[in-house]
Amino acid sequence: MPGESEGGPGRPLLRLEAVDKTFTMGEVEVRAARRVSLNIRPGEFLVMVGPSGSGKTTILNLVGGLDAPTGGRLFFRDREMTAWTQPELTRYRRDSVGFIFQFYNLVPNLTAQENVMVATELSGHPMEPLEALAKVDLADRADHFPAQLSGGEQQRVSVARAIAKNPELLLCDEPTGALDFETGKRVLRLLVDLRDDLGSTIVVITHNTAIAGVADRVIHLRSGEVTEVERNERPIPPEEVVW
Ligand SMILES: Nc1ncnc2c1ncn2[C@@H]1O[C@H](COP(=O)(O)OP(=O)(O)O)[C@@H](O)[C@H]1O
Ligand SMILES: [Mg+2]
Repeated sequence: MPGESEGGPGRPLLRLEAVDKTFTMGEVEVRAARRVSLNIRPGEFLVMVGPSGSGKTTILNLVGGLDAPTGGRLFFRDREMTAWTQPELTRYRRDSVGFIFQFYNLVPNLTAQENVMVATELSGHPMEPLEALAKVDLADRADHFPAQLSGGEQQRVSVARAIAKNPELLLCDEPTGALDFETGKRVLRLLVDLRDDLGSTIVVITHNTAIAGVADRVIHLRSGEVTEVERNERPIPPEEVVW
């Protein structure tokens, strides 16, 4: 199908052109990303799957402007990220990207609401922290500290923190990795709804191939290389995922 590896017609939100990332530690070189080329279109729900060590986090960090490639180029809309200064990268991370991590990364001595506020105070056009918490069904836990919340609730706070910035792009590193099956599906449902309601572009990386069913497109990685690109004509609802 034409446009298959490009993510479909229209202007991409993100474009990776032969992106390389090599880590050098003393004598040892690790090629964590090898000539990764990929277009991601606005509103796409993309899942990148691969075993541990296949380069998923490396690629997510490059896309999120947290790290720079050692080769190739990245574009956000038509702007070349690889040519940006540090302040431009900071602005991109702050205004355009929401991050969700496997272990939530909440600040332990701040309440749920304050954790969300940390993100919204820095961004240009945020939601009210309470509104974001309501979207993940946690308005009644706003004054709880992370230690007073279950793992699933903490992950929902971290989803609220990410979406409160109204980011164009949501990057999720093993977002269900620390959660039980039912709670994991609930978090996936939140991500799908977010894409449907706000049009956010979502990239989820995971070693769990079962999650791939909910994606519009699935990118398979092995040893830093894209080995397969699959399009789901009918993504399944998160409730039907089995793992
Ligand atoms: N900062 C780093 N320094 C050196 N090697 C790294 C670094 N980050 C990742 N790597 C290596 O790059 C490869 C890919 O890692 P990573 O992207 O974390 O994989 P995944 O997220 O798929 O498990 C691994 O071999 C890992 O050891
Ligand atoms: Mg990883």
